[in-house]
Amino acid sequence: VNNQSSLPLLHALQQCVARDHAPFYTPGHKRGRGSPDPLIGLLGSQVLRADLTELPDLDTLFAPTAAIQAAQALAAAAFGSDRTWFLVNGSTCGVMAAILATCAPGEKVILPRNCHQSAISGLILSGAMPVFVDPEYDANLDRVDGIPPAAIAAALQHNPDASAVLLVSPTYEGVCSDVGAIATLCHQQGIPLLVDEAHGAHFAFHPQLPTPALAAGADLAVQSTHKTLAAMTQAAMLHLQGNRVDPERIHKALTLVQSSSPSFVLLASLDAARWQMATQGQALLDHTLTLAERARSQLAQIPSLAVLSPAQARTPGFVALDPTRLTVTVSGLGIDGFTVDELLRQQGGVTAELPALQHLTFILSLGNTEADVERLLAAFRALPDQLAGQPESPPPPATWQCDVASRSSPPVLSPREAFFTPVTVVPVETAIARISAELVCPYPPGIPVLMPGEVVTEAAIAHLQRVLAAGGMLTGCADATLKTVRVVDNQP
Ligand SMILES: Cc1ncc(COP(=O)(O)O)c(C=O)c1O
Repeated sequence: VNNQSSLPLLHALQQCVARDHAPFYTPGHKRGRGSPDPLIGLLGSQVLRADLTELPDLDTLFAPTAAIQAAQALAAAAFGSDRTWFLVNGSTCGVMAAILATCAPGEKVILPRNCHQSAISGLILSGAMPVFVDPEYDANLDRVDGIPPAAIAAALQHNPDASAVLLVSPTYEGVCSDVGAIATLCHQQGIPLLVDEAHGAHFAFHPQLPTPALAAGADLAVQSTHKTLAAMTQAAMLHLQGNRVDPERIHKALTLVQSSSPSFVLLASLDAARWQMATQGQALLDHTLTLAERARSQLAQIPSLAVLSPAQARTPGFVALDPTRLTVTVSGLGIDGFTVDELLRQQGGVTAELPALQHLTFILSLGNTEADVERLLAAFRALPDQLAGQPESPPPPATWQCDVASRSSPPVLSPREAFFTPVTVVPVETAIARISAELVCPYPPGIPVLMPGEVVTEAAIAHLQRVLAAGGMLTGCADATLKTVRVVDNQP
């Protein structure tokens, strides 16, 4: 029954919390009675009373027949899927399960070079072989955007045996790819489109937001309900549409990557987040959109700042922008985004989601208030004065082209083989022509240059060294100074 004003899972938990009984089951704190005082002081006893896992009067996550089943069915109807699974390990486990459910060892999956780490974990678990496609890159603004449909068409043409395509849309900055056109390409080839929509759980609930991946034709969409809606941290959903992906394989994959003691606090928060959006979503998002619009237009009036706007969505890899994301370019101030982040936090009492060298990204959601936006604007307006007293920091480096030529050559080992093969640490000069055992990603632009299983090239190392010399940073590698690199020990 699609009664969106009901809360089956939240109410089941509420009744279980209220029922008087002697608990001889996990968790060990027994409804908070054994919890340490400092923890009770922080969380309150009610949260601990509700900290329960699978019990006879609750339900089981991997074989739901009662409250979880009803709550998942309501979520499917609200988010527009045929079937929805609740996740307690974030989109991270949803993306891993999506790959495990569609790609067997040795099979190919087409995915963006700058996919989230969870996709690489999915490749390691499944043994699938990546076919990377390059995202669009805006060199002027030093921003990585989405994937143009032409890049997917070319990858499909060269890899007609691919088992699936995985997209990340929207990006952290809210940039959306043309999911509809890419879904059509996949379906012409008879393969599913999996969308990592970790940052787009709110899209289904307001017409001014970009089209949700499922509405655009995706077969699977993974959403971090905790990132943009009101679910608790780690609570996420995996949505299935159509019959290109076998629900049994999704189920089997999810049992591999999730706990057998799922937190009912997290699960109930998913039920409540769905209820909130289904019953009041549009009104709540109206408010968020108004706040975001006000922040965007006011920030754009502050000298030397620029804010990414929906009007800039006009390239094949950038067809829409989530207006609730504010990406503020600060390079016009003559300092980098990390310094601005520090000033905003220390002096302005404002914390951004994602600082980068040239810009910072802020997430606005239904939890933000007018006072938050006022604080954000005041903090930015105060920056010029604060900077006047600061020592000059070096000007931000020129943008780096997304230099495809500097990449490693195609993989020799699958990410899974590279993961299990013994590794050795070598000085960077001797890493050339060896097989990388690590993922090295320069910021900017946030597109990995070395991937596990790929041969390290001289151009790749030179590129990474240029990034470091210009003040950028490397992530994913054991040695962020790049004096050493981890490579496969006994190379085939
Ligand atoms: C694009 C993308 N995919 C997946 C994830 C993983 O999401 P979660 O934190 O819910 O596990 C993230 C997290 O930041 C992300 O940015």
